[in-house]
Amino acid sequence: MSARQINQIIPAMDTSDGAGVRLRRSIGQRQNIRHDPFLMLDEFGSDKSNEYIAGFPAHPHRGFETVTYMLDGHMLHEDHMGNRGDLRSGDVQWMTAARGIVHSEMPQQLEGRMRGFQLWLNLPAKEKMKPASYRDIPSAQIPTLQNSKGIWVKAIAGTAILDAQSITGPIAGLTTQPIYIDVHLPAGQLFTQATPATHNAFIYLYEGELKLGDDAVPPHAAALLGPGDEVKVTASTDAKFILLAAMPLNEPIVQYGPFVMNTREEIEQAVNDYQSGKLTA
Ligand code: FE2
Repeated sequence: MSARQINQIIPAMDTSDGAGVRLRRSIGQRQNIRHDPFLMLDEFGSDKSNEYIAGFPAHPHRGFETVTYMLDGHMLHEDHMGNRGDLRSGDVQWMTAARGIVHSEMPQQLEGRMRGFQLWLNLPAKEKMKPASYRDIPSAQIPTLQNSKGIWVKAIAGTAILDAQSITGPIAGLTTQPIYIDVHLPAGQLFTQATPATHNAFIYLYEGELKLGDDAVPPHAAALLGPGDEVKVTASTDAKFILLAAMPLNEPIVQYGPFVMNTREEIEQAVNDYQSGKLTA
């Protein structure tokens, strides 16, 4: 096995999106700051309702998947296909926008903490125009493991192993073969995750202090990892992080806001289709 090292750090930038939701954007903060096939990662989190209450009113997507993982709070998703999804703490929504979706994501709480992640995962050219689909995955259906040392791991996609026990997340069968795990690691503990050498991988530390080899993993940043087939991290203080890996597509990317395609012509088509109502037809 060969352990991956940190290759590049993308510190999250404070920004706002939707109707004024404060968030931290690492991957995707500018065009070309990506980690194929990961297009964007937002960490949203606030205890102040005025920083999230306006939510994300109706907006379109085409050409990729959005994955929302709620750590704390309550959001309601509604889309043009008539889907309604209540997302509460620990739940995941995996939405394949593909040829087109128009949806809203609105907070359902008036106060308290709202915290979570939204990831944009690219689709290969041959799948960008397939029909949209959508899955709400309640926390109870997402497997977790905990050992006697207090290490906790949750597998949203891919397989994680702890003390010879293994769990596999509910998302499977995707071309990019994603791994998406959330790990709580008590101070002084070591955690190892297999990540196939074919995959690009990164870590996002959202609480505490963590080391990868001799390097500190900076908090609230995407730590893009170099080649290897496993990730070994040690917590300096109690730490919480997500670890993602997926197979790169190595295809050209042309992005215009919420549309991510392979060519400029396809982007013009997406804009035209949205304006004429064909995005969701
Ligand atoms: Fe969206």
